[in-house]
Amino acid sequence: MASAHEIRDAQRATWAGLSGGWEKWDSIIMGQLAPVGAAMIERLGIADDQRHLDIAAGTGEPGLTVARLAPAGRVVLTDLVPEMLDVAARRARALGIANVETQVCSADELPFGDATFDSVSVRFGYMFFPDVAKVTAELARVLQPGGRLCAAVWVEPDENPWTSILMQAIGTEVTLPAPEPDSPTMFRWAAPGSVSALFEAAGLRDVAEWEVGVELVTRSAEEYWEMMSEHVSLAVAALGRLDEPARQRVRATAVAQVAAFEHDGEVRVPGLARCIVGTKPEPGGAPGA
Ligand SMILES: C[S@@+](CC[C@H](N)C(=O)[O-])C[C@H]1O[C@@H](n2cnc3c(N)ncnc32)[C@H](O)[C@@H]1O
Repeated sequence: MASAHEIRDAQRATWAGLSGGWEKWDSIIMGQLAPVGAAMIERLGIADDQRHLDIAAGTGEPGLTVARLAPAGRVVLTDLVPEMLDVAARRARALGIANVETQVCSADELPFGDATFDSVSVRFGYMFFPDVAKVTAELARVLQPGGRLCAAVWVEPDENPWTSILMQAIGTEVTLPAPEPDSPTMFRWAAPGSVSALFEAAGLRDVAEWEVGVELVTRSAEEYWEMMSEHVSLAVAALGRLDEPARQRVRATAVAQVAAFEHDGEVRVPGLARCIVGTKPEPGGAPGA
């Protein structure tokens, strides 16, 4: 089994390589994931002067949206990978958002004092962390008592044709190894209650989870193939193992499958995420308070 150090190094290399794809396809990716960010932000309850921490912020969401909702507040975007945060900083400048800063760090070693933030978000980051118990303890540590942590993960592949169509097409050409336990994979936290259990083990209260639907919208099946093959970590890694003829067969299969979702000049492929929220108790707070 890979060590935490090896997993972080592999993640750093993977996401440095994917940052260009995330920037190129920014509007499609952000459009797809926006309902999840909105659902998380609603439960976090952002005040004008909120001090917010976005973990595994990648190209900046949902942290940049929080920054807009908290003009008198401050948002820190963190990520393991400087190249992803460079894109976030460019997006912040382009959007005219000034109350935001970036900080490269791993989610399990946060360079912030105890009780520094009113809220913490982790959108589609939990699946990549080597030691999730350590990460959750860190997130609880930097939260102010009464502050909320909200995360989002993907539910099972059957509910996420936007990615399973491509992975099944790749599977016709190459045997994808079964993931090792606790290794980073997209559906690692698909089981209901799995992230809630982590939150509760870290001492968070009023833990709740709910599902949020998304849609990946492209102008054509070809555009679906292009953007998916340039930004989805598992797909990019698997496609890299294929020669050009095999890659073209995968492309043809994926394009044919996804064409079923094409209507009126648009391809809309659905997906489903799960959000999880919890609150850091006040010192001496009554159980369940
Ligand atoms: C799927 S992207 C999510 C980006 C953003 N939150 C969003 O929803 O658009 C996952 C991010 O997790 C980051 N990541 C992976 N391992 C990490 C770690 N140990 N600590 C912090 N970030 C990590 C990657 O660099 C990548 O930017």
